[in-house]
Amino acid sequence: METILITGGAGFIGSNLVRLALAETAASLVIVDKLTYAGSLNNLEDVLHNPRVTFSRTDIAEQTAVAELFRTYRPQAVVNCAAETHVDRSIDNPWPFVETNLIGTFYLLEAARKYAASLDAQGQFRFLHVSTDEVYGSLGPGGSFSESSPYTPNSPYSASKASADHFVRAYYETYGLQTVITSCSNNYGPYQFPEKLIPLMILNALEGQPLPIYGDGQHVRDWLHVEDHCRGILLALRQGKSGEQYNIGGGSERTNRAVVEQVCTILEELLPALKNAALKKRGITAYADLVTCVTDRPGHDRRYAIDATKIRTQLGWRPRYTFEQGLAQTVRWYVDNRRWCEAIGADRYNRARLGLGAAPLTKDRS
Ligand SMILES: NC(=O)c1ccc[n+]([C@@H]2O[C@H](COP(=O)([O-])OP(=O)(O)OC[C@H]3O[C@@H](n4cnc5c(N)ncnc54)[C@H](O)[C@@H]3O)[C@@H](O)[C@H]2O)c1
Repeated sequence: METILITGGAGFIGSNLVRLALAETAASLVIVDKLTYAGSLNNLEDVLHNPRVTFSRTDIAEQTAVAELFRTYRPQAVVNCAAETHVDRSIDNPWPFVETNLIGTFYLLEAARKYAASLDAQGQFRFLHVSTDEVYGSLGPGGSFSESSPYTPNSPYSASKASADHFVRAYYETYGLQTVITSCSNNYGPYQFPEKLIPLMILNALEGQPLPIYGDGQHVRDWLHVEDHCRGILLALRQGKSGEQYNIGGGSERTNRAVVEQVCTILEELLPALKNAALKKRGITAYADLVTCVTDRPGHDRRYAIDATKIRTQLGWRPRYTFEQGLAQTVRWYVDNRRWCEAIGADRYNRARLGLGAAPLTKDRS
């Protein structure tokens, strides 16, 4: 039976990918995760008992442990989702981003190269690297990123992802490792760690806390439901051409302010502010009144937009969710899963502002 090794499988996208792969393939899955602050077995509660799932607590930045994974599980494919992912944290301390996103990916590639070379045919093995549209930098008011857009990363996070992408490409060109890169726009959906915009806004709103919008709130992101991203990953893994890169995006550009306002509107329908005791206590009658503009993020990219023509025309990928449907489903999920929210937040993140660049550089890792 086919075995797929999914790194970062206890994180947001990885755990959604695990669920989709269980439903839509017959593969056995090896979930590899270091369980940093952002990863949790709470994200996998419903799948860990599945006989097709194995979990390995492994740090991809530990070279011998990574080589051991290939010897033990002999996978037919690797999907590399493991990463440090929060731009604000990369501003405060870039080191873990270099270590996991670049060096960790390098160790995976190196182990994969040696492993693939030991197989009867290199084509029996595939390495799919999950990347981001942030590697392309920032757009003005028009245009969108295609696969041939130049790489101009602006944050330590996007620089670390861009560096890793270059290594993945080099391993295809130099060693013939069968690689595919997917570059996706901003994801949202269930199980996203509450440091990211949408879950942070939902949870703060429910608790009557301020809804901090960076700068003027006019920064634009191209939102995609996580399940649609994961469908694109599986499709690219199965049908993508080796050595190629596929952009994945929902064509749902929204300013941050518009997203936050929409979250407030959905919450008013699900749990009206007038009936929410946390808001009542503070004399607040509408979720939208919690919106507050705060100091902008240093180097904040103004606009991202994806041209997904290639994956649409070559692989037949289409998003299934509109942004409106997907956001309503997501807000409802957070409202219905407060126990998960409390477990995931406890001792890990107090929702304080990050990313103003004040911390000294440290090799301490999360
Ligand atoms: N979330 C988005 O909007 C988005 C968009 C495009 C691309 N991506 C990419 O998708 C991937 C997954 O993102 P996410 O949003 O699920 O992130 P996440 O932060 O929710 O999850 C990352 C996971 O990686 C694990 N991890 C971190 N360092 C590790 C290490 N050294 N060894 C093993 N595991 C480690 C964490 O424990 C966590 O489970 C990342 O590569 C990210 O760059 C994310």
